[in-house]
This record gives sequence, C-alpha cells and structure tokens, in this order.
Amino acid sequence: MTLLRVDGLGKHYGGTPVFANVHFSVAPGEFVAIVGDSGVGKSTLLNCLAGLDSWDTGSITHGNTDLGQLDDTQRALWRRAHVGFVFQAFHVLPHLDVAQNVALPLMLLGKTGTEPERVQHMLDAVGLEGLGARLPQQLSGGQLQRVAIARALVHRPALLLADEPTGNLDPTTATRVMDLLLAQTREHGASLVLVTHSDAAAARADRVLRLTADGIAPH
Ligand SMILES: Nc1ncnc2c1ncn2[C@@H]1O[C@H](COP(=O)(O)OP(=O)(O)O)[C@@H](O)[C@H]1O
Ligand SMILES: [Mg+2]
Repeated sequence: MTLLRVDGLGKHYGGTPVFANVHFSVAPGEFVAIVGDSGVGKSTLLNCLAGLDSWDTGSITHGNTDLGQLDDTQRALWRRAHVGFVFQAFHVLPHLDVAQNVALPLMLLGKTGTEPERVQHMLDAVGLEGLGARLPQQLSGGQLQRVAIARALVHRPALLLADEPTGNLDPTTATRVMDLLLAQTREHGASLVLVTHSDAAAARADRVLRLTADGIAPH
C-alpha cells in the first residue's frame, strides 16, 4: 500500500539544479524522516509534496491523484483536504486567537458547523485546554508549535508534512513537541514526512532518507 509516490522528481532554479532523481514512497501511517545538508533542497522538496511549489521532471502521486495533472486551483483544493503542514517558524496568524487559528483549515473547507467541538478536541489533545481565546503573542514557542500541530491535523489529513518543526525550540520543549507530533499523527493514522536536523527526532522514524544533489537514499 502506498499513500505517496515520488518518481524521478527533479527541480532547478534557472540553470542551477536543486535536486534530481528523487524516488521514494510513503505508506499509510508511515513516519519517514528526511535529513540532508543545509541548502540541499529539503524544504523545496516538502513544498513540492504539498503542492505548494512546482517541479521540472518526474511525478508526485498521492493516492490516485497525480499532482502534476492538477492546475493551481485544483492543487490548492486538494491540499486543503489532504495535507497538514507544520513549519519551523510556527506560521500562526497573529491577529487570530488560538481557537481561530486551529479552526482555519475547517473554515477553508467550508465545515463551519462541526467546528467548535472539533477545535476544542484538538486544543485538549495538544494540552492547550482553556487557551483558545488567547492571542499568539501571549504564548511560548512550544505552545505556538502545539497550536500549529492542532491546526495541521484538525481536518484529519492523510499526510502531515513537517519542516524542522523543533528547530526554534529548546531541547526539552523540542522533545515534548516531537512526542506530541508523533502521538497525534498516530492517533489520526496519518503519514508523516518530517524534515529534521535532529538525530533524536530522526531516530524515532520508521525510515530515514538522506537527500543529496544526486537523489535520495536510505540513511
Ligand atoms: N525561490 C528561489 N529562487 C532561487 N533559488 C532558491 C529559491 N528557493 C530556494 N532556492 C535555493 O534552492 C536550494 C534549496 O533550498 P532549500 O529547499 O531551502 O534547502 P534546505 O531546506 O535543504 O536547506 C538552495 O540553494 C536555495 O538557495
Ligand atoms: Mg529548509
């Protein structure tokens, strides 16, 4: 069984190649970590997997959907329904309160009716019960990343993508956030593709892949 299949993926900016010959697949519920040197294209690859960035050669297939066959609008709709994304810099919207931030994916999907219970459930699940009315500026970095995890999973996506999600956190908070990310991913049965510099985080993956300029291979 395969949720995500990447075949011969390649990308360049102008004349400069970023990566080439990237082949791998991810099973439903699997946790794959991607490591690699700074600047090798890990964030670019993750953005391609989310349909946020385009590529030059090869294909990305998610279930029965060939992402390369979708236009920008179709890709955005696909992403809203099937992908959650956690970024290093949290990307929590500063003018929305915590509950509104978590509700955002549901609102984009037009699912406003089920929103309050679902949002409450996710806030409880990430240990932010009672903090729904707070503004992001009133939270710590670890709490902000919990908001981002709740937001990434609130719409039950099949695929969670995380780009250095503990990169801005101190080691103790980073371990707690990784614990939570893994527990929540498992509870939702989602697949997780995690880009990380952390050996401790990569060690918890089902598989670790190393991205280089020539392709991707088991680490
Ligand atoms: N919009 C862009 N235009 C030109 N080059 C870019 C752009 N975005 C990223 N790059 C280049 O692509 C390479 C890969 O970047 P990135 O995916 O951020 O690497 P990583 O996440 O592995 O550190 C880098 O050399 C970076 O300078
Ligand atoms: Mg990066």
